[in-house]
Amino acid sequence: MRILLLTHSFNGLTQRLHVELSRAGHELAVELDINDDTTAEAVELFRPDVILAPFLKRRIPESIWQAVPCLIVHPGPPGDRGPAALDWAVLDDRPDWGVTVLQADAELDAGPVWAWRTFAMRPARKSALYRFEVTEAAVAAVFDAVDRLEKAAGPLPEQQVPAAAAGWRGPVRAQDRRIDWQHDSTATILRKIHSADGHPGVSDEILGLRCRLFNAHPEPVLAGRAGQVIARRGEAICRATIDGAIWISHLRPEGPDGFKRPATDVLVERLDDVPESEADPTQQPESGGYQPVRYREDGDVGYLHFDFYNGAMGTEQCHQLRAAFEQAAARPTRVIVLAGGEDFWSNGLDLNRIEAAASPADESWRNIQAMDDLCEAIITATDHLVIAAIGGNAGAGGVFLALGADRVIARAGVVLNPHYRNMGNLYGSEYWTYLLPGRVGAAGAEAVMAHRLPLGAQEAADIGLVDAVGPSDRDDFDRAIERHAGELSNDFAERIEAKRLRRDADEAARPLADYRAEELERMRLNFYGFDPSYHVARYRFVHRSPHAWTPLYLAPHRRLGWKIPAKRQARA
Ligand code: COA
Repeated sequence: MRILLLTHSFNGLTQRLHVELSRAGHELAVELDINDDTTAEAVELFRPDVILAPFLKRRIPESIWQAVPCLIVHPGPPGDRGPAALDWAVLDDRPDWGVTVLQADAELDAGPVWAWRTFAMRPARKSALYRFEVTEAAVAAVFDAVDRLEKAAGPLPEQQVPAAAAGWRGPVRAQDRRIDWQHDSTATILRKIHSADGHPGVSDEILGLRCRLFNAHPEPVLAGRAGQVIARRGEAICRATIDGAIWISHLRPEGPDGFKRPATDVLVERLDDVPESEADPTQQPESGGYQPVRYREDGDVGYLHFDFYNGAMGTEQCHQLRAAFEQAAARPTRVIVLAGGEDFWSNGLDLNRIEAAASPADESWRNIQAMDDLCEAIITATDHLVIAAIGGNAGAGGVFLALGADRVIARAGVVLNPHYRNMGNLYGSEYWTYLLPGRVGAAGAEAVMAHRLPLGAQEAADIGLVDAVGPSDRDDFDRAIERHAGELSNDFAERIEAKRLRRDADEAARPLADYRAEELERMRLNFYGFDPSYHVARYRFVHRSPHAWTPLYLAPHRRLGWKIPAKRQARA
């Protein structure tokens, strides 16, 4: 089928649908929802069989849904309606929730249902639920709906759709999730913050500053006077509640220019009297607390987790992770698993932190050096076999960071963006000029870099970018990684010898330092040269500037020379 993805932005869910529907043989185009006339123009050019709207903030005009079937992905079960479905589900502590694919018509979210799925909720950030549970359910439901369309089966008969449970609910108002630090329990506060993560964030006042709160975690030990900021750790602050305390890692100062930054960077001197609380890197997530870098060992295998908010790795995060990796590499184990974070594996440099720096060019330079130091430590770890276990999405430098491992295994369902060009034609470093051709060949490397579109795990395996695809279920994936680490450990002597020989031969052919110097020469131009594209693209990304057009790599129908296929013309 010819499917037009009409979406507010090319977000994670839309990328995943693009990957899956393309793989299933459908013809895809993307149109960002900019205004009604532009959408009408896209429909005229592409002549889709169906318009699929995974993420819209405006209604589809009647002239369009009257002419072409428009299927909306609503992040709520059948009957639920309104613009803040998932926010309410988290706030109301629902035990389960769902996704519905319904047809656009005169009343918002009330059209005929084509497919739906439900899932169990877990105590997590709204953004995390969206990236996993909602995305999985949406993909399954969209495939059901497309199947019905292909068979001309029409929407589901009424008896196959559960009776409306929730009905219409408007936006969550500020007072619905305002935190009362003197009365709300830790669980209630967490729920309020989770329900608004990553947008719009709960509005609050901390140490006299009005800001939005993101990425909250319960603290198991520390306590104090309710509402007081009692500790800081890395980028996070710890605030006491009536029955415990919570960590908050990111804040967005209120105001039109505010964007998300580490809490300690936003509050700076307001934290002068707040004591530092040392992290315990062996503390496990189930014991709570804020511990983005964690290490655990199981026999011959060390597992290094790095759960940086939004997968963004600033200079300090790179230093911290490199130190943790070097410690892991000094242990008498055989295999190190780079497990990434809960939501993302890595998204490369922290663009927000760079944007906030006094000199974004200098901070970009510091950040890429720190990232390269980390990559180098991984590539040159010749006493261990390293597995990159990509359980969450990865983008830009985050993908190339993974390629430094000996084995790269991606969970089925992850989306990879192995290119830099979308960030203002950034050249990229992370030793990609060494690692990528080694995996996919010179021509393959050129193709990957020019591609600009997301790749699914299977597509990445097909071209040799990753070595294998693991199960899509997170627990099954972790078990598969454990098994694989065990296998590597069993064949250790042979494999480590081969690794050392290969590294020595590669170094003799061309030193790593040489690759780095050449990449950084190009990056220096991106950061300090005459062409400001990278700085402009980063500004727009960080400030979430609205799109004014759909980039051509997403919109084949807008490319020069685009022609409606003959079959379509006849039908039109
Ligand atoms: N630095 C800072 N924040 C980042 C980030 C980065 N490198 N990559 C992603 N984020 C943030 C986004 O701003 C967004 O923030 P929000 O919580 O306020 O919404 C959040 O992570 C999720 O990102 P989003 O773009 O919505 O996710 P996605 O799944 O739709 O897209 C990417 C994934 C990787 C394609 C996209 O995030 C991206 O292009 N990131 C930049 C990668 C990059 O160029 N890195 C620098 C060069 S190494």
